[in-house]
Amino acid sequence: MSKEKLIKRYSAAERINHWIVALCFLLLAISGLAFFYPAFFWLTGVFGTPQLARIIHPFVGVLMFVGFARQFFRYWQHNFIDQEDIKWMKSVKSVLAGHEVGDTGKYNGGQKGMFWLMTGCLLVLICTGVVIWRPYFAYSFPIDVVRIALLLHAWSALALIAGIIVHVYAAIWVRGTIRAMVEGVVTHAWAKKHHPRWYREMTGDKHKP
Ligand code: HEM
Repeated sequence: MSKEKLIKRYSAAERINHWIVALCFLLLAISGLAFFYPAFFWLTGVFGTPQLARIIHPFVGVLMFVGFARQFFRYWQHNFIDQEDIKWMKSVKSVLAGHEVGDTGKYNGGQKGMFWLMTGCLLVLICTGVVIWRPYFAYSFPIDVVRIALLLHAWSALALIAGIIVHVYAAIWVRGTIRAMVEGVVTHAWAKKHHPRWYREMTGDKHKP
């Protein structure tokens, strides 16, 4: 029997919510890139046919927005950037070399920055997505507004895709992190090393490193 000491990090509902958002993101990124670059047009096959991709893409966008909104209201209080996070951000080189810096709480400076980037991108994507959504809403806006919305939609999608690549890379690179979102638990050693303040809050340990 394993003697690993574990701490719960995410409930089943939180994990299901996260993976629904992640799946929506993948479908949207693939079909969105297919609309954007002619060379990727064949990717519209992700929804069966190009016509279906064009119809379904905005509905999946709404689903992702609702799923992310649920995540936002669950986590926003844990994502305020404090002095310890600034320390972490300033020493990111040493963190990348494997030496954690600062008395990090539930999330570190990088995760918090990513959280606000995701929030900003999702807000721009949903607002501009509604403005460019034919045949339902786009005809209610002047053509110049639709053009600007198209540009902002594409830019925020690219920023989100770049952000999610970093998010996934970090999740795989910091060993034991994927387990948090798959099984819902992390080891004491993981929490103590990467999130010492959160570790003390969860275990009642008074010893500050
Ligand atoms: C596609 C593959 C993805 C993978 C492998 C992945 C992996 C993970 C993992 C392992 C965590 C837990 C990190 C921790 O607790 O320290 C996490 C947290 C989180 N993920 Fe993802 N994720 C993915 C996509 C996404 C997408 C598309 C979004 C939303 C746009 C997202 C939003 C979040 C949020 C909000 C958190 C909580 C972190 C915070 O509040 O700062 N994830 N993810």
